[in-house]
Amino acid sequence: MSLRTVSRAALLALAFNAWPEAARAQLISRPVPPEDVVERGRAAFTVSCGFCHGIDARGGEGGPDLVRSEMMLNDEGGDLLGPFLQVGRPDLGMPPFQLSEAEVAELAGFVRAQSQAVINRRLYVIQNVVTGDAARGRAYFNGEGGCNGCHSPAGDLAGIASRFDPPGLLNRFLYPGRGRGGSQPLSRRATVTPAAGPAVSGTLEYLDDFSVAIRDANGDYRSFSRDAASVEVDDPYAAHVDLLGRYTDDDIHDLITYLVTLE
Ligand code: HEC
Ligand code: HEC
Repeated sequence: MSLRTVSRAALLALAFNAWPEAARAQLISRPVPPEDVVERGRAAFTVSCGFCHGIDARGGEGGPDLVRSEMMLNDEGGDLLGPFLQVGRPDLGMPPFQLSEAEVAELAGFVRAQSQAVINRRLYVIQNVVTGDAARGRAYFNGEGGCNGCHSPAGDLAGIASRFDPPGLLNRFLYPGRGRGGSQPLSRRATVTPAAGPAVSGTLEYLDDFSVAIRDANGDYRSFSRDAASVEVDDPYAAHVDLLGRYTDDDIHDLITYLVTLE
């Protein structure tokens, strides 16, 4: 099956939802219990857990995504889930449950089946990410994309393909500063010009419709009402945000196929 069947939206979602390291290490096929166990787990999960964690365990009303929970990824047959459920985290909204060992194993089996399904889909997508044309990717990099205005394959991007696997790379270039496993996000700089008084520049600390705050060169926190000041924000990722709206499917595939050659 060709990559063209993987939609741009799916690719963007894939990159954005870069998995925690624990999950990456486990992008392998793991055993899923028999169907009847999973189905009993599903029924119990729907009743006892689904309200908070979502009926598919992908997160819901206040409960986190269990499909990508490190605890659940490391669990085998309920060995971690069981002790956890006995105490819960009542202070954080996770009640304790008194369940039999078999019931715990069924719940764990259902979550395993859910996570394995996601992992298998993801493996499928990964295998299909690097199917563009490297030469076209390079041309886009130096042409339409304008990437070479800020990056160089022999400079800052040298060896990038040995630092990240293809989905990681995809994540880095689509959402720099937001993905895991990269450098600390760069801060945004802003210049505030109050109606009365000179302009001040610094690191943007806070911004909403009503107020703005920066930390100036002396390290002082300074806040202004936006009625009485104009603000200019300099976002280091602005070019990348803009690019997100411009890439076609093919551009993304060609670029990733080019970037993986920068070893
Ligand atoms: C009333 C809402 C609620 C219900 C019902 C609930 N949970 Fe939770 N659960 C939470 C919340 C909130 C957290 C996150 C607690 C925290 O921030 O550490 C959580 C955390 C967890 C975690 C830990 C995830 C992690 O990686 O740290 C597991 C596992 C879990 N729940 C399983 C279950 C199971 C299985 C059930 C059903 C038997 C269940 N929960 C029912 C709200 C709920
Ligand atoms: C106007 C400047 C600018 C342009 C144009 C630009 N980028 Fe970036 N890019 C950045 C900045 C700033 C970062 C963040 C660097 C950091 O976190 O240290 C970044 C990060 C990246 C990273 C992650 C690097 C790492 O080490 O994690 C990749 C990959 C990347 N850009 C690729 C591209 C590609 C491909 C294009 C063109 C389609 C492009 N960039 C266009 C400024 C730019």
